[in-house]
Amino acid sequence: MSSFESDILQKFHQISHSEGNPTTILGEIINTLFTRIGADSGQLSVADEIAGEQTILVSVDESRRLERSEQEKGRAFKGLRKRGVDLTSADGDGGIGETARVPVRLSGKVIGLIEAHNRTGASPFTSQDLALIESAGTVAALLVENVRLEKMRDRSLREISELMEISGILNSSLDTTVIREKAITVITQLLNCEVASLLLVDEQTDELYFEVALGEKGYRVKETRLKRGEGIAGWVAIHNEPLLIDDVKSDPRHSKRFDKRSKFETRNMICVPMVIKQKVVGVLQAINKQGKGTFSQTDLDLFISLSHEVAIAVDNARLYNELREAFYQTAEALADAIEKRDPYTGNHTRRVMHYSMAISRFLDLTDAQMENLRLAAILHDIGKIGVEDSVLRKDSDLDDEEYQKIIRHPEIGVDILGHIKRLEGVIPGIKSHHERIDGKGYPDKIRDGDIPLIARIIAVADTFDAMTTDRPYRAGLTDGEAMEELKRFVGSQFDGKVVKALIQSYEKGFIAKSVD
Ligand SMILES: [Fe+2]
Ligand SMILES: [Fe+2]
Repeated sequence: MSSFESDILQKFHQISHSEGNPTTILGEIINTLFTRIGADSGQLSVADEIAGEQTILVSVDESRRLERSEQEKGRAFKGLRKRGVDLTSADGDGGIGETARVPVRLSGKVIGLIEAHNRTGASPFTSQDLALIESAGTVAALLVENVRLEKMRDRSLREISELMEISGILNSSLDTTVIREKAITVITQLLNCEVASLLLVDEQTDELYFEVALGEKGYRVKETRLKRGEGIAGWVAIHNEPLLIDDVKSDPRHSKRFDKRSKFETRNMICVPMVIKQKVVGVLQAINKQGKGTFSQTDLDLFISLSHEVAIAVDNARLYNELREAFYQTAEALADAIEKRDPYTGNHTRRVMHYSMAISRFLDLTDAQMENLRLAAILHDIGKIGVEDSVLRKDSDLDDEEYQKIIRHPEIGVDILGHIKRLEGVIPGIKSHHERIDGKGYPDKIRDGDIPLIARIIAVADTFDAMTTDRPYRAGLTDGEAMEELKRFVGSQFDGKVVKALIQSYEKGFIAKSVD
């Protein structure tokens, strides 16, 4: 074994025992090599599959000062795979001397290149020098692989944590619009692309439309619709296969109509189907990698995992919404059944719900409070189920005994629904909708802020409807008269803030009297 070979083996030994940074040791190998063969400058470059470009790992300049530049972009080696050991004269560019180019191979595959320049030409490279470069290349390849695997491992770890984070974000909402927006935001950042979009399949028109398109030029693509089968997204929707395209313009599937209409130039793209229960429901696209690069296979793998996450989250949200709708419908059906017993109040429940929601627009309610309000308004008189017909349907004034029976309906409502866990936030609205601000209401005679806000809202909505509805024994008030009445009872019966919200909502046209 030559002293050079034992030198580089020793360097390799160092790295395999974690005695140094692989890039530093690569630099030492190249430096030792160049000294040995009399090269005055040159570099070791490798193909960086992750970044999709050539990277100079080690560069030695003419003064033989060693520089390491991991991120510096190298020139592309076209035809590298075919090239073997190569010596060229540097006469062409005005210098003397020659350049040796030796591919770096790992398991037979070219992964990089060592270039050594001998500018002075004083001692031309010999075949022995070329053999030495090849030996150094073999060791360098192992080190390069070591560095690559480490980078891959780091990236995988980062991706896993990013995916977990996304999973958390997606599962934090049951609103499909929010989920989609969040997913696309994350995709734009993670894949470093100009535009990320989600197209959904419109079964009725057999088209794909943009549900979300984000990124600085996202607004340009949003207006456009694609026929299913048209363009790359259309192809993906039909074939249910992901695509990674480096040069979109030369791809026959590309829809030029799309770029023309959106005035958007699509250069490269990854496009994956979004599948729910074996059916393609949409297509996710990441368009134009930022900078000059293109998307890598790793980007595509990440994108496929993302599309699964998004599909699951969207489907969960859909199921939840269906369930919630079914729940509302059941509640409404129940309320309808009770109203059937009282022909004079027809659709009272629906109107109270409508007025309550209109009032809530001008009050500061959380989403959860809004939902509780909606259900409580639907179910507020559910307790009337326990009040006998003779009392409930009586046209004339109620005597005291009858009155005592009817004022029990909030508590009967609580008795019926109080044990349902899902209605925990709804019960206070049912129980307290007949309480008064001055403490003279029922059933608990609580006052002011002790009365839950949703109950104070329902109280106003309930009374507004009662006053504006015709009864057999009296005509209803006009809306204006009813609002004046509500104002008169602010502070005694009603919360002023809620009455004000009803008037504002009425003036803005949110209270449609056609709700019947
Ligand atoms: Fe009531
Ligand atoms: Fe009512």
